[in-house]
Amino acid sequence: MSRPAKVLIDLGALRHNCQLANSLSPESKTMAIIKADAYGHGAIQVAQALEDLAPAFGVACIEEALELREAGIQTPIHLLEGTFSKDEIQIAANNNFSLAVVNHEQKKALLNCQLDNSVQKPQDTFLLRKDPIKVWLHVDSGMHRLGVQPDEVASSYQELAACSHIQDDIVIATHFACADDLENTFSTEQVRRFQQGLAALDLQSFDESLLSSHIPLSLANSAALLGWPETRAAWNRPGIMLFGSSPFSAPHKEADKLLPVMTFKSGVIALREIPPGETVGYAATWTAARPSRIATVAIGYGDGYPVHAPSGTPVLINGHRCPMVGRVSMDMITVDVTDLPDISLGDEVILWGGSLSAHLSVNEVANCVGTISYELLTRMPRRTPREYIGH
Ligand SMILES: Cc1ncc(COP(=O)(O)O)c(C=O)c1O
Repeated sequence: MSRPAKVLIDLGALRHNCQLANSLSPESKTMAIIKADAYGHGAIQVAQALEDLAPAFGVACIEEALELREAGIQTPIHLLEGTFSKDEIQIAANNNFSLAVVNHEQKKALLNCQLDNSVQKPQDTFLLRKDPIKVWLHVDSGMHRLGVQPDEVASSYQELAACSHIQDDIVIATHFACADDLENTFSTEQVRRFQQGLAALDLQSFDESLLSSHIPLSLANSAALLGWPETRAAWNRPGIMLFGSSPFSAPHKEADKLLPVMTFKSGVIALREIPPGETVGYAATWTAARPSRIATVAIGYGDGYPVHAPSGTPVLINGHRCPMVGRVSMDMITVDVTDLPDISLGDEVILWGGSLSAHLSVNEVANCVGTISYELLTRMPRRTPREYIGH
């Protein structure tokens, strides 16, 4: 029997979540954000599973985009941070990647580039076509990370629109800082600043809704798509919700329909009884207060389990919650199973995910550790085998 540590990826749940994203705003198009190896779920497998549901994919860099093309994915791919060097513009044009323009340097490089439209070389098997480049102009509406300022939107847009090697239907986009906090009015303020930037472009019917703008707009990440309906526009850009993790800390009517995609699991590899006063694990950080039964589980920080998980972080053994105790080692954790009636070597341990009847949310584990689900999901190491089910 091989080491039981593994990650199960439920592609049926992934598709369900993408269908939910689509159904929330049927007039919009979904750009599925699958950067960082699809938040740790495997970008190629995720893209293959979503090809018929998402008309575009968003990634962080050209390497991530090329990986998808080389795997035969033909869907348009968007580079959310644009290009990092001038040579990437040609690669993007060759491969039908759309580019974010997030600063003036990128804009200048794009306007001044000379695209080589020569005949495709036979070895470039993933070369698709060389139409004008599709561009998304990114606006800094308050996150202050990337984007042109709202008062530069009209001039930047017009410069880009006048360029012959740039497609006409430029998308204007922004990104929210606090959309996961439904009480925080900063999202409304960001929409206001974004609209202010667009005002100089004189968009008809724009006041009715962002969806009715004749220039395609894009604002919503998962939290905004789920919780701020007024931010839905021509393109929505959900990421974390596709993987079944709610962006909100409280229950939410729509987010509660999401299904978890990743189940992180392993098995019990040792069991022992210890008397009160004995300690467990490195640095002897946990002391038994009663006669205790300790299960050793084959999972550790070398498999993607968070090293800072404190004693008390829940795991599921045979569907029952019990507390992890002591420090997380590279390949093992220890769990107090004193209150579990029956437990044997080889029993199943779920670190997060599971079935709907016995489920531990990655958000709950992230809260215990003081991090966010995004981090736990994206940092799965290569050593942990992935198994795909449900497609
Ligand atoms: C520009 C942009 N859009 C959309 C997303 C997706 O965000 P989320 O995973 O919160 O839905 C991200 C993720 O960080 C992003 O950077």
